[in-house]
This record gives sequence, structure tokens and C-alpha cells, in this order.
Amino acid sequence: MATLNDQHLLKTQSYWQGGWHGASESFDVTNPATGELVAAVADASAADAEQAVASAAAAFSRWAALPAAERASLLLRWHQLMLQHQDDLGLLLTLEQGKPLAEAKGEIAYGASYVQWFAEEARRVYGDTIPGPATDKRIMVLKQPVGVVAAITPWNFPNAMIARKAAAALAAGCTFVVKPAQQTPLSALAMAELAERAGIPAGVFNVIVGTDAKGIGAVLTQDARIAKFSFTGSTRIGKQLIKQCADTVKRVSMELGGNAPFIVFDDADLDAAVEGLMASKFRNAGQTCVCTNRVFVQQGVMASFSDKLQQAMKALKVGAGTETGVTIGPLINDEACDKVDELVQAASRQGATVLCGGQRVTAGQLFYAPTLLTDVTASMEVSQEEIFGPVVALQSFSDEDEALQQANNTEYGLAAYFYSRDIGRIWRVAEGLQFGMVGVNEGIISNAAAPFGGVKQSGYGREGSHYGLDDYLDCKYVCMGGLNR
Ligand code: SIN
Repeated sequence: MATLNDQHLLKTQSYWQGGWHGASESFDVTNPATGELVAAVADASAADAEQAVASAAAAFSRWAALPAAERASLLLRWHQLMLQHQDDLGLLLTLEQGKPLAEAKGEIAYGASYVQWFAEEARRVYGDTIPGPATDKRIMVLKQPVGVVAAITPWNFPNAMIARKAAAALAAGCTFVVKPAQQTPLSALAMAELAERAGIPAGVFNVIVGTDAKGIGAVLTQDARIAKFSFTGSTRIGKQLIKQCADTVKRVSMELGGNAPFIVFDDADLDAAVEGLMASKFRNAGQTCVCTNRVFVQQGVMASFSDKLQQAMKALKVGAGTETGVTIGPLINDEACDKVDELVQAASRQGATVLCGGQRVTAGQLFYAPTLLTDVTASMEVSQEEIFGPVVALQSFSDEDEALQQANNTEYGLAAYFYSRDIGRIWRVAEGLQFGMVGVNEGIISNAAAPFGGVKQSGYGREGSHYGLDDYLDCKYVCMGGLNR
């Protein structure tokens, strides 16, 4: 394995109660680009998860009672350490997840930006006073941390998906236990090492890594000491976890699957639209929930848009994320490659034209060629399922009503994008899209200042922005009476 500048950032055990904990079994973390072993990691059990929850529960009241400014300083220190170790954290991320090194380092900065954002927001957890219904009464509203928060996070953003949940939770005064995806535990454990170096007290930030997803998931969704559960992942698993949280009536937030439309109107700047689509589609080799999934191009500009797009796609370089100039890394595993290929082959059998790509690439086991499909229809699986791979599927439409109707024709509602230069159309379409986030003439919309989240079966709750703290705070009404006596 390529060496880190700071070897102590490579941790292979779970972290709770401010300490590292081994296990009798271990599991392998492999590099998806090469299949090589990156590290063998201690395989924590459901019983270990209970220990982690106990440590978060024990730490809660002290952490919640700290002045917000002190919690903010510790978070800012954590943020600084992430940036200071950006190269090492980026390399670890590329080795376990596969994305190109430049993108991995970008993810570290992106994750750290949430820590900074919520450190600043910690000081602004304002309550409220409300005029009372009688002269001798006053109504006050206090915002208090919900308690222990548990989270399960995905492999596609091994740092940032933890950072934006944990930073909000810690800023609000909650303590936190996370189970990262078993494919990418090393980024999470390195974050724990840096949290410790930042001085975040024992029990406040805990990471439990293991292969018993069911057993650990059961603890994190059913333990009565946990007040809130947050999940990023597929809609199918999210629905199951929501049910598991019901018995203890946990606060739940869900960032689930997407099926993002990308609409190109005939008045759009086509070069800008191609640039936006390239960014939105090929980030992380197409493996993000907000990646464009369905591209709708107005009939009159279809030919020139698809030519320009094909030209731009020629510049993509597939390979191991550690190689210079690579822009598309491997997919996460064999099943992911098979699924992408099945969607492409099925579309092609049903009448789609493969303009480029359409098969695995010989650079390694898990690489799929950037693929461009035209003549795609709404009934094809490639239009209905989250592709999670480097495949662009072009459909055409005739007018604005049809574009909106097609774009909204999905059970998902996470992100949507469109390109137009007509101000009236921009408002009509932005308001008509049934999605939690809309990019207008913009393909990259995620940032710490903005509320990230979906509607419909893409979930609920918002991460980032000042709204991102709400999910971690209870609203307590205090009625003060007897003021006239
Ligand atoms: C995701 O794919 O779940 C997150 C992507 C982002 O934060 O932009």
C-alpha cells in the first residue's frame, strides 16, 4: 500500500469511549482498483455496538452542558486537523473506495466544510419568546439536544457523509455513534483518530466497524438509549430501518436513493449544459445519490447536444484513482459492475443505441466504460432505476409540460437539474419539479451552506445549512406564569 505521511491515521479497530477495541475476527478492506488488500480490520459485533452506545449515553450530559463556544472550538480544531491531513485522508479514501485522488481530496475538504459550518452554527442555536395568551404568562421555547444519535453511512462518500451528520449532532450537543459501510471503514476510523487529537472527549464520537450489518443495525435502530437515527443509503434498506426505529419512536432522518432528471431546453447554453452534465453525471464514476440518472433533451437540440457530449466524454480517463490524470475510477464491487452492465444491455435490447462504451474496461476487474445511450424511453429499467455508474441515458421531449411530466414521473425526489436561459421558464420549472434540490444552470449543487435532502421516497430531513441542526434539536416549551402576583 502507498504510504501515508502519518501512519497513525491507519486504524484498524473500532473506537468508543475514547479507546480502540480489537475483536477476535477480522475482515479485509480491499482496493477496488486492484483487488489488493489495504488493511485487515477488527470485525466488531452487535455486543460491541452496545458498548459504543453505552459510551455515547454516558458522555451525553457533560457534552450537552458544555458552552456552545467550547463545542465549537473543538469542532474547529477537528476541521483544521482534517485539512492538515487532507493528503493522507484523501489517499486512504481512494485506496478503499476507488475515486480519483483529486476527487478524494476534494471530498475531505467537502467533509471538513460541514465541520466548520456546524462549528459556527453551534453558537446560533437560538430559542424563542412568544407573546402569551394572558398578561401573567410568558411563553419561551428552548432548543435542546435530542440525546444520543446513531448513524449508518454509505461507501460512496466515506468521509463527507459522516462529517455532515456528526458535525451537526456534536454542534447541537448530541453524542454520536456511526457504523460506516464495511467497504470503507478506514476513512471513518481516521476521522476518529483526528477527533481524539482535536480533544473531543471520550464517548462523544464513536465508530463501530463490522460486517454484521444486521446485528449492529438492530442495536443502532432499537436501543432505547438512542434518541435519533440518521441513514444515508438505498430506499429499500431505509424503509426497513424506519420500521426498526418505530418501536422506540426515534427521531429519524433518511437520505435515500435518487433518480435525478437533467433537462436541456432548446434555449439553453449547450456548452454549459454539457459541462454541467459531465460534472453531475461522472462525479465518483456516477456513484452518488444526486448524480444525473435521466437526461431529457428538447428535440431541436438533441443532435448537437449529443455530439458535444460525446466529444466531452472522450476526455474521460478510466483507471486506478492513484494514477495521474484519471477521472473515472472503479465501481465499488462486482455486483455494481454487473448491475450497470445489465441496465445497459437491457436498454440496448429494447431499442436504445449505444453511442460509446457499453462494456467493462480491461484496466481492472471493476471498471466500466463511460457509456452514452440515445433513443432511451421511460419504460426502460435504465430510466427507472438508480444506475450508480458512468452511463448517460438520453431521452427527447417536445415541450416544457412534457419535460416536467417526464422528470416528475418517478417515486424518487432527491435532486433535479435543468438548463435554460428563459427567466419565466426557470421559475415555472424550478417550482414544478417535485424534488428536494434543484440545480438551475448548475450541475454541482452540494455545499455546507445548503439544505441537502429529498422528498417522496428519497427521504426526509435536511443535512447542511442552518436547517441541518433542526433534526438534532428538541423544541421545549416553557410556560412562565404568575407574573401579575
Ligand atoms: C450522496 O450521494 O449521498 C451525497 C452526495 C453529495 O453530498 O453531494
